[in-house]
Amino acid sequence: MQRVFSGIQPSGIPTLGNYLGAIRHWVPMMNTHECIYCVVDLHAITQPFDPATLAVQTREMAAALMACGVAPERCVLFVQSHVHAHARLAWIFNCVARIGWLNRMTQFKDKAGKDRENAGAGLYVYPNLMAADILAYHATRVPVGEDQKQHLELANDIAQKFNHDFGEEFFPSIEPIIQGVAARVMSLRDGTKKMSKSDPSDQARINLTDDADTIALKIRRAKTDAEPLPSELAGLEGRAEAKNLVGIMASITDRQPQEVLREHAGQGFGTFKGALTDVLVSHLGPIQQEMRRLLADPAAVDAGLRLGAEKASAIAEPIVCRAEKLVGF
Ligand code: ADP
Ligand code: NA
Repeated sequence: MQRVFSGIQPSGIPTLGNYLGAIRHWVPMMNTHECIYCVVDLHAITQPFDPATLAVQTREMAAALMACGVAPERCVLFVQSHVHAHARLAWIFNCVARIGWLNRMTQFKDKAGKDRENAGAGLYVYPNLMAADILAYHATRVPVGEDQKQHLELANDIAQKFNHDFGEEFFPSIEPIIQGVAARVMSLRDGTKKMSKSDPSDQARINLTDDADTIALKIRRAKTDAEPLPSELAGLEGRAEAKNLVGIMASITDRQPQEVLREHAGQGFGTFKGALTDVLVSHLGPIQQEMRRLLADPAAVDAGLRLGAEKASAIAEPIVCRAEKLVGF
């Protein structure tokens, strides 16, 4: 079985975007791959954060994953900072990666914003840590969105240079698993920006923990246009917000956008939004209930994560020790 690595930052409550674009795909992958799933708190501190809430958000993210079906007994589910192999390998990779390679990363430019001189150095070397996350397990498959492809190419460059510099075909090459339809959920206020848990300006995002009334309100307020739903995909051209809502409906009901249009063609968005709210509420309700049940016993969630960290260390420790030997430590 091929080994998969995937991570998610505890930088806020997971959104509908995280769920449809990532978390939901993690579950069936456990049937076909050996899966290593990580709440990446080392990554979360590369941007402004609050120490008091970081631990809470880390536990909440783990509970959300479990509630979505990421069963700790069927995968390795743990918190990044609990397994020291990540930081150790990342340091070696900081020395292997070239500054020129990092300078080409578009996500740093996006996240650092205008005041680049004032961004944390951790944000700059973030892709090296991501390479270490994957390669510490010799994982070969990584489910990613389009936006992460560049980081995977960098991880492969690092692996190759490490192998070349230290004289052994030690690290494998990594292949992305690109997710299918509606892999990208956009903001409900602006169809050109992605919905993000870590964007403080986007209060319109749908959180996995939103109750039925909140979901209804956010969907009702979602930006759309006055045109009814078209019968063909071409009719959504240039209508980013309309396209996004149709994409969300398609994704959550496991259909193609075309099938959604076939059912709802001619409806105004008032009617369509009602149908979308019903589907979202009935889909997310059981997840929220399970999340509340898990978080009622935080010690049990933490204990599960500690067990996960032991399983993760058992895999990563010999690999990273070997890498350290190759470097000469
Ligand atoms: P965020 O931007 O919400 O903080 P992360 O950077 O922690 O998200 O990404 C976690 C996972 O969720 C990644 O696999 C990413 O591709 C996916 N993801 C994040 N936002 C979206 C979105 N709007 N639509 C689809 N997938 C998303
Ligand atoms: Na993010």
